[in-house]
Amino acid sequence: MGGIERISVIGAGTMGSGIAQVCAAAGKQVTLIDTGPAQLEAARVKVQDSLRRMVKKGALTQADAEAALTRIRPAPELAAAKDAQLVIEAIFEKESIKLDTWHALESLCPPGVLFASNTSSISITKLASATQRPELFIGMHFFNPVPVMKLVEVIRGNKTSAETNRIVVELSRELGKSPVEVNDYPGFVSNRVLMPLINEAIFAVFEGVATPEAVDEVFKLGMAHPMGPLTLADFIGLDVCLDIMNVLHEGFGDPKYRPCPLLKQMVAAGKLGRKTKHGFYAYND
Ligand code: 3HC
Repeated sequence: MGGIERISVIGAGTMGSGIAQVCAAAGKQVTLIDTGPAQLEAARVKVQDSLRRMVKKGALTQADAEAALTRIRPAPELAAAKDAQLVIEAIFEKESIKLDTWHALESLCPPGVLFASNTSSISITKLASATQRPELFIGMHFFNPVPVMKLVEVIRGNKTSAETNRIVVELSRELGKSPVEVNDYPGFVSNRVLMPLINEAIFAVFEGVATPEAVDEVFKLGMAHPMGPLTLADFIGLDVCLDIMNVLHEGFGDPKYRPCPLLKQMVAAGKLGRKTKHGFYAYND
């Protein structure tokens, strides 16, 4: 198979819209699919804003930004995915919902179409089992904000072929990203290491060792992190952090991955971070 030119992105949330943007900016034809019209409209505004920022700092010309926007075709139904050479799924991070979506995509898309999930920790091997093409199934894990972060964690499932891996690594480079190849075990590398750090930072607050501000200052000033772990947790979403800790806990069966009770309580209270305006910090604008 040659290069990938037509890509369908499923899910127009933060990650899906960012993925659609970087694909379109790299010259790919993108179909951005979401069943919610409000999500599609919000994604268009988000992409437009992000492209405007890039034009402002000279990373993109105005003409290239406008051309990128025209290469993104919004679509409200899953069937619109079928014309692509690669489908990237970036929907809600729940295993049963992802399995149902992949099952539906398997019957909609012709054989030979590559499948990639942007899951942050769900097993690629398990998701691939919802399809008849596990050798064409792979993980493409992007990082928020997608237009800024250089990494794509490329995750090989148990049956992912070397050719699928090669094509997706090459595509990631075309998107201006630096792919890092890993195997399919819980949390891959990124979240296996990042989430226990965040969880431990939450334990430090829970046990009264320090305030959220103090924990974050330690990491910003002592380790040159752009955001401290609790600011980052609010940015990622505390529900997402909890889901990933649960995947690690169940996947390894090791108590070192138990989610902090404070994290569980905040999620139960609906304090999910920036998206609900309340997390470890309050967000008023
Ligand atoms: N689109 C385009 N450009 C953007 C942007 C966007 N959405 N957001 C920020 N930028 C650009 C800005 O224009 C600016 O560019 P410049 O430095 O060349 O002028 C640069 O990024 C920095 O932005 P700001 O000055 O507005 O703000 P900060 O300096 O605070 O940077 C940040 C913001 C890039 C988000 C930085 O705080 C950061 O790197 N934070 C850590 C992010 C991180 O760790 N992400 C990974 C989360 S984990 C994940 O996604 C995986 C999942 O599985 C959990």
